Amino acid sequence: MEVKRPIDYSIPRKKDCARYKMHKYWAGKPWYVVSEYIRHFTKEGGIVLDPFCGSGVVGCESLINNRKVILNDLNPMAVFISKNTCCSPVDLRAFLEEFEGIKDRIGEEIMTMYELEQLCPICGQRLYAKHIVRGPSQNGDWIVEARCRNSHGSKGKFRRYLTQREKQNIINIEKRDIL
Ligand SMILES: C[S@@+](CC[C@H](N)C(=O)[O-])C[C@H]1O[C@@H](n2cnc3c(N)ncnc32)[C@H](O)[C@@H]1O
Ligand SMILES: [Zn+2]
Repeated sequence: MEVKRPIDYSIPRKKDCARYKMHKYWAGKPWYVVSEYIRHFTKEGGIVLDPFCGSGVVGCESLINNRKVILNDLNPMAVFISKNTCCSPVDLRAFLEEFEGIKDRIGEEIMTMYELEQLCPICGQRLYAKHIVRGPSQNGDWIVEARCRNSHGSKGKFRRYLTQREKQNIINIEKRDIL
């Protein structure tokens, strides 16, 4: 196998891509860097193996660059995201119809799971958690990030510790049976 020299030039930043926004995945790699590596280190028609595929960026960029791919991940969520990101075409009309139906049936109930006690101090709009950071390094404190739906630029972004009640709400939700 021919070993190529490493990439020794900078890869200019490009905009985030809609295809990778289906679901947040921690440690998802920047698509334009992955794409450059694929073009540099592999040949068209070749096979790219990603045994820890996460959100499928390597898989999708490989396909776009006319390579074949084999993907694997321990996490079923990663497999689901990768499969649905890499396989096209998607019937967007059917997808939207299905989504609107689900939103009508359970949208409000789902949003209560993410609801925060605090209202937006700028416009009074209800705030919902965008994501929560928790783990052994947090010593039991959970950090929440939220963004007001009315935007307000960077002033509409909030990062703080969850209150005891908000934390308990999540603990209660996680104890529920999944039907
Ligand atoms: C850093 S993420 C990969 C992110 C990916 N490059 C992307 O752009 O989305 C690492 C992945 O390795 C998976 N993983 C960790 N240990 C594994 C194992 N033993 N077998 C398969 N997958 C594993 C995790 O579930 C996680 O999705
Ligand atoms: Zn607001």
